[in-house]
Amino acid sequence: MQTLKKRIFHILRSQQFGRQWLEKEFFPETLRMKNALASRASLSTLAGRTICLLFYEPSTRTRISFQQAALKLGADVVATENAKEFSSAIKGESMLDTMRVINALAFDAVVIRADYEGAAEEAASVSQIPVINAGDGIGQHPTQALLDLFTIYEHFKRIDGLKVALVGDLKNGRTTRSLAYLLGKFNNIHFELIAPESLQMRQDILDYFKRHKISFNLGSNLMDVADKVDVIYMTRAQKERMKEGEPFDFAQGKGEGVRITKEVLKKIKKDAIIMHPLPRSNDFNEIPEEFTDDQRVVIFKQVENGLYTRMALLNMIVK
Ligand code: NCD
Repeated sequence: MQTLKKRIFHILRSQQFGRQWLEKEFFPETLRMKNALASRASLSTLAGRTICLLFYEPSTRTRISFQQAALKLGADVVATENAKEFSSAIKGESMLDTMRVINALAFDAVVIRADYEGAAEEAASVSQIPVINAGDGIGQHPTQALLDLFTIYEHFKRIDGLKVALVGDLKNGRTTRSLAYLLGKFNNIHFELIAPESLQMRQDILDYFKRHKISFNLGSNLMDVADKVDVIYMTRAQKERMKEGEPFDFAQGKGEGVRITKEVLKKIKKDAIIMHPLPRSNDFNEIPEEFTDDQRVVIFKQVENGLYTRMALLNMIVK
């Protein structure tokens, strides 16, 4: 008897993925895309399909990589780059109506980046075509987490047992939230959450860790854990998400404790990897330019894997 595979329809948040799907479907399909591009195989699995990219927040990597992924699979792309200003949102149109419009225009999938948490779920609630969350405010960024997971897996050939430091603005950064949920699906993961006190990880993730008996420590200085972890995931200060008067003061201290310095780099294990979703910024100066070529820094590998990941995802969800 043929077993029916559970198809992924929308991609909204990391919790939706099971370990089985990640290992048995996502990793192999992503690898297949990587090999296909390496051998210059011509892929046209999505010929005749049209993908809509609706971006309400700035994006370079995510938008271009989704666009490139769609084109590499033979799909057409209609993209709005600055939907907040250029679309009807400025006239007061709701996400629900925007989504009804997209659905009426014969698209085959829509990729949304929005400026508020829950936007992709809201969009999905009225959509007959797959909705992919490319970042919803301070909520999640599941496709980034998937490409991060693939990058980690490619390096270590396993996920179980890894020790991971999530570093920087953990309160406002959505990539570390999605990655925490995803890594939590594996066994014996240990997290070091390193952030300035006012920018620590929000309670919902800590509750998730506790519920699933996932081990974690809170800290504020990367130096303290640099020699104990396998993955160091750096992030920038999400300045645009901070309200005026918030306790984090850019004028003082800046990235103290959440930056790769010469001393920190010296402590980091030889076979560890240093990641970043990009963009790097000079507020924390998380990974200074001078360390870019250190062989543990895999930040552009992540970008590359983002293309394969998004090709794999589009292939899996677009009919
Ligand atoms: C991230 C994002 O938009 O959340 N960027 C990205 O998509 N690679 C990280 C960030 O903006 O800091």
